[in-house]
Amino acid sequence: MDHSVTLHDKTFVPFIPYEQIEEAIDWLAGILNNRYRDAKAPIALVCVLNGAIIFTAELMKRLEFPLELVSLKVSSYEGTTSTGEIHCVLSLSGSVEGKEVLIVEDIVDTGNTLETLVGTLREQGAASVKVCTLLFKPDAFKKGPELKPDYVGIEIPNRFIVGFGLDYDELGRNLKDIYVLK
Ligand code: IMP
Ligand code: MG
Repeated sequence: MDHSVTLHDKTFVPFIPYEQIEEAIDWLAGILNNRYRDAKAPIALVCVLNGAIIFTAELMKRLEFPLELVSLKVSSYEGTTSTGEIHCVLSLSGSVEGKEVLIVEDIVDTGNTLETLVGTLREQGAASVKVCTLLFKPDAFKKGPELKPDYVGIEIPNRFIVGFGLDYDELGRNLKDIYVLK
């Protein structure tokens, strides 16, 4: 049986099944629950639209400490490569001033987006900024150790993937499993 999917001009094959994604999210939620259980004030969860929308929802319902949800939209990818230029397409939906912030990302690739995000959130007065990402491509990461994500669900090789929120030119976000470019 052929389980491949075609989006625009490209074909993708199964890579990470939903069950494995779910396990990684359960594991991350356990770590975050331990870390933030005794937080003095609600944590500001920053969902990076659109890619992190499914991960944020799945993670959030497993979190047991008080939190607020803030979102913003950035864009850097055109097709299957990062342009290196980050555009803030939609600004923060709420204030992070004086709050402990946890960025929720779908994937950290070169780290360009993260660098911009962390800078923006600090400028906006965040008391601290930590990063939780479902996926991380260590071989593509170009920034220093201080920008490495604090919480990583699954490390993957430097390949282009879609599904579970991730897109190829806006298609494929709704796939339940993660697929890789053939
Ligand atoms: P970075 O700025 O290079 O770290 O890229 C981060 C953003 O690019 C992520 O938040 C994703 O939206 C997008 N991205 C990076 N790698 C992939 C991929 O393999 N598939 C789809 N989108 C990706
Ligand atoms: Mg993203």
